[in-house]
Amino acid sequence: MKVAVLISSRGSNMQALVKASLAEDFPAEIVTVLSNNPDAAGLEFAKSHNIPTEVINHRDFENREDFDQAISDYMESKQIDLICLAGFMRLLTPEFVNRWRDRIINIHPSLLPAFKGLHVHERAIESGARFTGCTVHIVRPEMDDGPIIVQAAVPILQDDTPDTLAARILVQEHRIYPEALKLMAERRVKIHGSVVKIEDAREDETSLTNPLA
Ligand code: GAR
Repeated sequence: MKVAVLISSRGSNMQALVKASLAEDFPAEIVTVLSNNPDAAGLEFAKSHNIPTEVINHRDFENREDFDQAISDYMESKQIDLICLAGFMRLLTPEFVNRWRDRIINIHPSLLPAFKGLHVHERAIESGARFTGCTVHIVRPEMDDGPIIVQAAVPILQDDTPDTLAARILVQEHRIYPEALKLMAERRVKIHGSVVKIEDAREDETSLTNPLA
C-alpha cells in the first residue's frame, strides 16, 4: 500500500509512521511526506530518511477548493492508496474527502467524539473528566469525525497542565498511529456505517482489546 503523510509542523507522528514502516514486514510504504507549510520541521526528518517531500503551500491558492485540487492531483500523480493526516492543520473540503472516501485517516489527541477541534487538552482538563486519550479514525467531511479505528485512553492527573497531559498522550499517539496504519494496510478495517470492525482481531493487539494497555 502506497501511503502519503500530510503534516503542518513538527511531524512527530509522521516520524513514528516512518519508523514503523521501515520494518521489513510492514505492509505499507510511505512514498511521500507533504506539507502545506514550507517551514515544517518534519520535512527535514523525511528527507534524512530518503522519503520524497513536497510542499503545497495553501497561501499560494485563492481558495480551499484549488488548494485541495492541487493536493488531489499530486496524490494521483504518486498513485497514493492511503492518506495519513498527521498534525495536518488545514480543513479539507467535502469534495476532497469524498473523492478519497475511506482512504484518508487522521490522528486526533482526544477520545473522540469528545473534544473535537483545538485546545483539546485544556478543554479536557477543564471538563473534569478523569480520562482522555487519542484516536485514529477514518476521515469524514465533518471536522474530527468518522469511524474510529484505534483509541488509547490516558488518565488526567490532578496536577496535569495542558503540556504534561499532551506529552503523555503523544506517547500513545506514536504507538497507536502505526498500529492503525498497519490494520489499514492489511485491509482488516471493515467500515459498517459509523462503526469499524477489525477483521480477525487478536488478543495481542492490545489497543483493539484494551485501550488502556
Ligand atoms: C498531534 O498531537 C496530533 O494529534 C494533533 O496535532 C499534533 C501534531 O503533532 N492533531 C490535531 O489536533 C488534529 N485535529 P506532530 O506534528 O508532532 O505529529
